[in-house]
Amino acid sequence: MKKKSSVVIAGGGSTYTPEIILMLLDNLDKLPLRKIKLYDNDEERQNKLAKACEIIVKEKDPSIEFLATTDPELAYTDVDFCLAHIRVGQLPMREMDEKISLKHGVVGQETCGPGGIAYGMRSIGGVLENIEYMEKYSPNCWMLNYSNPAAIVAEACRRLKPNSRVINICDMPIGMENTMAEILGVASRKELDVRYFGLNHFGWWTSVKDKEGNELLPKLLEHQLKYGNCMTDGGGNFTDDSWQETARKVKDIVAVDPTLVPNSYLKYYLFPDYVVEHSDPNYTRANQVMDTREKRVFGECARIEKAGTAVGTCLEIGIHASFIVDLATALAFNTHERMLLIVQNNGAIENFDPEAMVEIPCIVGKDGYEPLSIGKIPTFQKGLMEEQVAVEKLTVDAWQEGSYHKLWQALTLSKTVPSATVAKAILDDMIEANKGYWPELK
Ligand code: NAD
Ligand code: G6P
Ligand code: MN
Repeated sequence: MKKKSSVVIAGGGSTYTPEIILMLLDNLDKLPLRKIKLYDNDEERQNKLAKACEIIVKEKDPSIEFLATTDPELAYTDVDFCLAHIRVGQLPMREMDEKISLKHGVVGQETCGPGGIAYGMRSIGGVLENIEYMEKYSPNCWMLNYSNPAAIVAEACRRLKPNSRVINICDMPIGMENTMAEILGVASRKELDVRYFGLNHFGWWTSVKDKEGNELLPKLLEHQLKYGNCMTDGGGNFTDDSWQETARKVKDIVAVDPTLVPNSYLKYYLFPDYVVEHSDPNYTRANQVMDTREKRVFGECARIEKAGTAVGTCLEIGIHASFIVDLATALAFNTHERMLLIVQNNGAIENFDPEAMVEIPCIVGKDGYEPLSIGKIPTFQKGLMEEQVAVEKLTVDAWQEGSYHKLWQALTLSKTVPSATVAKAILDDMIEANKGYWPELK
C-alpha cells in the first residue's frame, strides 16, 4: 500500500484553497492523504472557507483528518508537504500595487513591473517565516511554493535559505500548454514533451513534441501568429475575458520573434504602452478578482457551511493546479516526472548568469529535482532576461540591505518603466502605501 501523506496549505484563506482541496481529493489514488491542514495568519479570513473545506473533505473521505489553524506549531507539525500560496497584504495591497503604477502611466500588474517589485518586498518576509516554521516543526517536509512574485521569492530563497526543501513553481506554462494541446488537436498537455527556458512569467518554448517525437512548434507558431494562444474562434481554457485577451495578445508577441512560443506574460514587457492604454486606473485586476473569484468562492463556502453539505456545489477542481499533485507525487513516489521549475541556473543555460533563478525543465524524484541542460539561448531573449533578472536581484538586495537606491535602481531598470524620474515617483508613493509591510529603506 502507498504511504499516506500529511499536507498543510499555507495561506489557507486563499481564494484558491477550495479548488486545490478538491484537486487533492480527486487524486487520492496517486497521492493518498491522511491529513489536510489549513494555516493562515488571518483567522477571520480563513474561517470564511475552513468549515466548507472540512465538509468537502469529510464527505469525500472521513478517514482524512482535517484542521484549520492560525497556530504555526499545530499547522507545521507532522507534515510531508506544505503547499504555500500566501499573499502578504492580501488583495487590497495588490490593488495599491496596480493603481499606484497606473497613476504614473506605468503597467499596473500583480507580478510584472513596479507592482511585482512592491509585492516582492512584502512577500519575501512572509515566505521566509513559513519556511522557518516548516524547518522547525517538520524538517523533512517539502514546500511547494507558488506564492508570488515567484521569481523574486525564489531569488530570496536561493540567497537566504539555500539548503531548504523549497521548490518554487508556477501554473502559467501549464495553463498555456492546456490550450496548446487543444490547438494542436492533442488529447492533453500530458501528451506533449516540451523544452522551455526563461525566468518566471518571462519565458519561451523552444520545442513542443508529441509522444512520437514529432516537432509541432512550426504548426503552433503558424496558428499563434494568426490567433494567439486561442482557438480560431477565440476560445480555450480561460477563466475570464481578461485571460482570453492576454492569450490573444500572444499573436503580437510571436510576431516579434516568430521562431519561439512566448509566455503570455511577456506582453507586459514588450507592449507596456498597449497595456496601459487598455487599463482602467480606477478598476484594476484586483478589483475584478475581489468582485468575481473572491465573492464566488467565499459565497459558495458560506452556502456549504449553512447547508452542512457540499453536494451540488459549483466549486470546481483546480485543473490548472494539477501540477501541484504531480510534483508532490514525484517527490513522494520517485516518479521522475519532467516538470518546469524555478531553479538556480548553474550552467543549465550555458550563456546565462549561473546564479540566476530560471524556469526550466527538471526531472523530479524523491531527492528533489535535476535540471536539464538547455544550451545557448538567442541574443534577444538573453538581453531581455539579463535586464529582468537584474531587476529581481536588485529588489532582493534592497530588501536585505534596506536600500532605497537599490530599489530605485530595480524600478529604473524594469522594461515597463520609462525613466529614473518616473521610477522615483512610483517608489515614493509605494513606500507610503507599504508602511508596515516593507523593511525601512534608507
Ligand atoms: P488571497 O489573498 O485570496 O489569499 C492569500 C492568503 O494568504 C490570505 O488569506 C492571507 O491572509 C494569507 N497570508 C498572508 N500572509 C501570510 C503569512 N505570512 N502566513 C500565512 N498566511 C498568510 O490570495 P490569492 O489570490 O488566492 O492568491 C494566493 C497566492 O497564490 C498569491 O501569492 C498569488 O499570486 C499566488 N498564485 C500563484 C500562482 C502561480 O502560478 N505561481 C497561481 C495562482 C496564484
Ligand atoms: C496565473 C499566474 C499566477 C498569477 C495568476 C493571477 O495563474 O501563473 O502567478 O498569480 O495568474 O491570476 P488572477 O486571476 O488573480 O489575475
Ligand atoms: Mn505564476
